[in-house]
Amino acid sequence: MISLRIEEETIEKVRTALDIVEVVGEYVHLKKSGRNYFGLCPFHQEHTPSFSVSPDKQIFHCFGCGMGGNVFTFLMELEGYNFPEAVRVLAEKAHIPVPESETREEGQRQDDLNPLYHGMELLTKLFHYLLVETDYGKPALQYLKERGFSDETIAQYKIGYALDDWDTQTKFLERRQLPLHLFEQVGMLDKRSFDGKRFDRFRNRVMFPIWDTRGRTVAFAGRVLNDQKPKYLNTPESPIFHKGRLLYGYHLARQVIKQRNEVVLFEGYMDVVKASQAGVTNGVASMGTSLTEEQAGLLTRGAEKIIICYDADQAGVDAAFRAASLLEKYGRTIKIARMIDGLDPDDYITRYGAERFRTDVIGASMTITAFRLYYLRKNRNLNDEGDRLRYIDDVLGVLSELPKAVERDHYLRQLADEFSLSLDALKQQQYLIFRRKKRADKAEPPVGRRLPVKKSSLLPAYLSAERHLIAYMLRHEDVANKVRTEIGGSFYDDLHQAIVAYLYAFYEEGLEPDISAFIQKLPDPDLRARVTDIAMIDIDEDVDEQVIQDYIDQMIKHHQVLVIEEKLAAKNEAEKQQDLDTATKLLAEIIELKKDLQNR
Ligand code: UTP
Ligand code: MN
Repeated sequence: MISLRIEEETIEKVRTALDIVEVVGEYVHLKKSGRNYFGLCPFHQEHTPSFSVSPDKQIFHCFGCGMGGNVFTFLMELEGYNFPEAVRVLAEKAHIPVPESETREEGQRQDDLNPLYHGMELLTKLFHYLLVETDYGKPALQYLKERGFSDETIAQYKIGYALDDWDTQTKFLERRQLPLHLFEQVGMLDKRSFDGKRFDRFRNRVMFPIWDTRGRTVAFAGRVLNDQKPKYLNTPESPIFHKGRLLYGYHLARQVIKQRNEVVLFEGYMDVVKASQAGVTNGVASMGTSLTEEQAGLLTRGAEKIIICYDADQAGVDAAFRAASLLEKYGRTIKIARMIDGLDPDDYITRYGAERFRTDVIGASMTITAFRLYYLRKNRNLNDEGDRLRYIDDVLGVLSELPKAVERDHYLRQLADEFSLSLDALKQQQYLIFRRKKRADKAEPPVGRRLPVKKSSLLPAYLSAERHLIAYMLRHEDVANKVRTEIGGSFYDDLHQAIVAYLYAFYEEGLEPDISAFIQKLPDPDLRARVTDIAMIDIDEDVDEQVIQDYIDQMIKHHQVLVIEEKLAAKNEAEKQQDLDTATKLLAEIIELKKDLQNR
C-alpha cells in the first residue's frame, strides 16, 4: 500500500501557524463585522455576503450554501487539492518544512516518487519533441493535422509521439539514471519474461500526457494512428495515478472554469483538446469511464454550472444521464448538451466548425428534464395517436419526479399547449402518476450536501436544543462530559449523533477544545459543514449550568414524546385486536410517562 501521509505533528504545526483569515483573504475580499469577517462565498454565487470566517475558531462557514471547514478544507474545496497537497502548499506558506519522506511505515516514500515525476516530465518532453521536431514523428503529426489539430493546440496539450521502437524510452530513462522499475510499476515499461530486460510499452502511438491537479504528468494515453484495437493504451492505476480522482485537462482549464464559473464535461481526450481549440477552454474529460464521486467533487467545487457534453450515441446518452444524476445532488446547475446523432464533440467541430459548436451545442445545452423529454420524443411518430398518448404518459412520469412545482408547471403548460390539452386534466393525471410512484418506492430523495442548513429559529425546539448543546460541547470539555453521562449519543439528528461520537473520541484522546482541530478529524464534508454551522451559533462565553440542563431536558422530553407516540399507536392497535389486557397495560404506561413529562 502506498500512502503519502504527512505526520500528524507537522499537520498541526501548519494549522496553528497560519491564520485562516489571511489564507481565505487571498481569495475572498473580507470585511470585519463584530468578531468575524464576512465576504462573498467563493463556493456559490451570491450578491450579499453570507460567507464568514472566524479568527477565534479558525474556521469558515457559509450560511448560504452550508459549506464550511478549516484552513485545509478551504484550499481542498477551492483548489481541488487533496489533503496532503493542501498541507504542503500551506506549509510552504508558513515556512514549515515537510520532509518529503514523511510517510507512514509501510508506505512508499514520497521522495522515492520524485524520480518518477521527474521521468514522466522528461518523457512528456521527449514524446512532444519526437512528434513536432523529428522525421519519425511526421506520420503522427500528419494524422493529427488531418484530424484538424493546430500546432498551438498540440503544443498546449503537449501531445507527443512514441516511436515504433522497443527501447527508445528505456534507454532515455537509463541514460538519466532513473530507476527503471518505477516506470515499469506505472506501466510505461514492460519486462521480458525470459531475461528480465525492460522495453517500451508504448510504441507507434500518439501520446497524451495526463496531468494531476497540480499539473504533473502522472499517466499517458497512447492512441493508435489507425483503426486498430485497442484504440487507446493507457497507463494503469499507480501510486501517482488514480484515474477516478482526476479529470483530463483539469489543470489547464482551472482558471477559465473559475472565471466563467462553468465547466464542460467531455468523455474523451480528443474532445477536450478539440473543444479547447474551438474556444471552449473550460473543458475536462472523465476519460471514458463512469463519473466518480471524487470527480463530481472536483467539478462542482470549481463552478456553479456544469455542462455535460458526451457522445451522441446510446452509450453516451446513458452515461450523460448517470453523470447528471450524480451531479444533481450537489445542488449545481446541470445542463446537457445535445448533438446530432452518432457524433462526438470532436466530430461535430470537424464537421460544423467551432462557432456552431459553441452556439448550437454548448450554448444550447438543456436542462436535464428538457433532455429527457427530447429523448422520449425521439423515434416516436407523434402524429400517431397511440404513440402520442404513450409519449404524454411518459412525459408525465418524468415530470412526477421533479421536486419543484414551478418546474412541473412549466413543462405541463408546454405539453398542454403543444397537444391542445386541458392543463387541469394533465395536472390531475400527473398527480395520479406521482401518487402511484410514491407508493411504489418509498425511498428517500437524496439530500445534497450543499442544501442550505435550516435556520435554527425555524427548527423544532429539540433540534435547536441539540445544536446549542453541541455548540457548548465543542468549546467546553466538561459540558461534553456531562452530556455524555446523561444522554450519551442519543441525539435525534443523524449528523449530530455522528458529530458527538467524534467529539467524545476527540476529548478522549486528551485534546483540548479546538474547533478547527476537531474538524480535521471529520472525514466527511457534511459533518464538517454542520460543525462549522453550529460553531457559528452565538452562545454565552460562560457556561450556565441551568441552560445546559434545560437543553438536555428538552432532548429527553422529545425522546419521551416519541416513546409515548409509539405506545399510543401500539395501544390503538391492541384495541383494534380486542386485546384489552395489553391495551390497559399500555395506557397505564402512557399515563405514567405523561406525568413524568409534565414534571420536567
Ligand atoms: P472515444 O472512443 O469516444 O474516444 O472514448 P475519443 O476520445 O473520441 O478518441 P477518437 O476521437 O476516437 O480518437 C472516449 C474516451 O474513453 C477512453 C479514453 O479516455 C477516450 O478519450 N478510452 C476509449 C480508452 O481509455 N480506451 C479505449 O480503447 C477507448
Ligand atoms: Mn472521437
